[in-house]
Amino acid sequence: MLSRLLPALISLCASHGGLASNPEVPKSNNDTFVTALYYTEWSFYNKHYPVDIPLSHITNIYYAFAKIDSKSEGTYWGDEKVALEEIIPLVHEDSNSSFGVRYDMLCSKDHAKTSSEAEPMVNSTGLIGQLLQMKQLKKGLKVSLAIGGENTNHVFEGATSSQRKTERFCQNLVDTMRKHGFDGIDIDWEFPDLRSSSNLNKLIKALKETLSVAEKENGMLPNTYLLSLALPLDVSSLKNYEFETLRNYVTYFNLMGYDSTGPWSDRADYHSNLYSPETYSASSVNNTVQYLLDKIDKKQLILGMPSYGRSFKGMGVGLPFKGCANIADIQQEQNQCIVNYHNLPPQDYIEVHNFTAGSSYAYNTKGLGIVFYDNPQAARQKANYVKELGLAGGFWWDSYGDDFRAKNRSLLYNFVDELGGLYMLKMSDPTDDFYPDEMDGATASSYATQCFYTDIRVFLVIVLSWVFILVFIS
Ligand SMILES: *[C@@H]1O[C@H](CO)[C@@H](O)[C@H](O)[C@H]1NC(C)=O
Ligand SMILES: *[C@@H]1O[C@H](CO)[C@@H](O)[C@H](O)[C@H]1NC(C)=O
Ligand SMILES: *[C@@H]1O[C@H](CO)[C@@H](O)[C@H](O)[C@H]1NC(C)=O
Ligand SMILES: *[C@@H]1O[C@H](CO)[C@@H](O)[C@H](O)[C@H]1NC(C)=O
Ligand SMILES: *[C@@H]1O[C@H](CO)[C@@H](O)[C@H](O)[C@H]1NC(C)=O
Ligand SMILES: *[C@@H]1O[C@H](CO)[C@@H](O)[C@H](O)[C@H]1NC(C)=O
Repeated sequence: MLSRLLPALISLCASHGGLASNPEVPKSNNDTFVTALYYTEWSFYNKHYPVDIPLSHITNIYYAFAKIDSKSEGTYWGDEKVALEEIIPLVHEDSNSSFGVRYDMLCSKDHAKTSSEAEPMVNSTGLIGQLLQMKQLKKGLKVSLAIGGENTNHVFEGATSSQRKTERFCQNLVDTMRKHGFDGIDIDWEFPDLRSSSNLNKLIKALKETLSVAEKENGMLPNTYLLSLALPLDVSSLKNYEFETLRNYVTYFNLMGYDSTGPWSDRADYHSNLYSPETYSASSVNNTVQYLLDKIDKKQLILGMPSYGRSFKGMGVGLPFKGCANIADIQQEQNQCIVNYHNLPPQDYIEVHNFTAGSSYAYNTKGLGIVFYDNPQAARQKANYVKELGLAGGFWWDSYGDDFRAKNRSLLYNFVDELGGLYMLKMSDPTDDFYPDEMDGATASSYATQCFYTDIRVFLVIVLSWVFILVFIS
């Protein structure tokens, strides 16, 4: 009798995740949303690592970027050492750990003592190794491999210039994805023109077929691997996409709802405005979203938002400018006049959110410049927009720009809060034993306490079971 009871008992003890999860958590995926971040390989050099991303608040990560070798139709890493080899600590001194994930990892270390499946967390091998460790902690987290990026029309065109090349490229790409344990592929073809648009159709169709074969080989359900496609904000560029074909294969369309203005523009103006202000620019996120909703399902559309501003040396909204603003103590990306959100607003600048425009700016009181970006109010306005229109969710370019330490300032935290909190996020794996309420205000001690009580509960179950067995045997 004992020998039959024991395995059951052991599995009961081992699966203590079930005990820890809150049974009242609504698990319906109906009205839930995706929140995604692009993590860029080069943010390693800013000491921003995947582990700095608050795992509790996101459902998807895009790793940017794999590169295309158009001669062999293969893929390679922009910085292979950082992607695959560099030893990256899970806890590092350059970051304040006042938020989710790091404590989650520490907690999981404790769990490893009682849970048979958890492995102790050690330093990561490469950024991709660290992303996979994060997937161990939140099984529902989806990490896609993004390929392409800025000005990649020609290289994509080359890799898809014949059916044979397209198939080889898809096979190489899917092999890379599987080899490194990614959950999908994000195509950042920027941007197809009239000539290359049929190549894009063929690529997406062939990629979907290759992914389906991989799913069968892995014994997965169809459509388990994600296939997403980045889209430009500019409606005239969107005319080159054949959505009636693409919509049949693409899981998510990632609308890059930013960069409508920059150093190339005639005037200083919003670059990520939700609505068209009465300035010269007629471009708006709303216009493009409305255009797309005629062509794709609303649950296929993820609204992209910037975690950076674009600066102009000029006097104000809709006025001429000359180069980037002079902003003391802040490095702006060369010639791009890009300022990371965590540095905004700059000193001596006044922040203004314009509800009519659905975006924000900060201007220098002495007329030295103006920066356009989304502030927390803009993030909240966009969360409501996503909710009202029933879109799939929101994403940001990129994770380094936001400020996850100051929760009331973080774009991601404000967005999720306005959606209605962590329960509004899509939960891809119901066995994820996350504790949203505790995680939300997680401090080191509150999270450690949570771990402690979980372990106590497991301990009690074990003791009571043994008492039960002993009584039963005697
Ligand atoms: C989700 O929404 C659809 C349409 O509104 C409805 O038919 C379906 O029952 C809902 N499913 C759940 C699990 O709530
Ligand atoms: C992790 O990396 C840190 C810093 O590089 C090092 O001090 C520590 O010994 C490493 N820990 C393990 C378990 O390898
Ligand atoms: C961490 O937080 C403390 C206190 O809030 C602050 O003094 C310190 O500068 C922060 N460290 C970093 C690296 O941000
Ligand atoms: C906000 O935008 C609207 C529309 O462009 C404009 O009329 C209004 O003056 C702006 N307000 C501020 C404070 O910039
Ligand atoms: C958003 O676009 C739709 C369709 O073009 C339009 O009817 C609506 O007024 C726009 N919303 C705002 C606030 O401009
Ligand atoms: C944001 O939070 C910090 C620390 O909790 C607080 O000092 C600050 O006043 C808050 N800012 C706003 C605008 O609420």
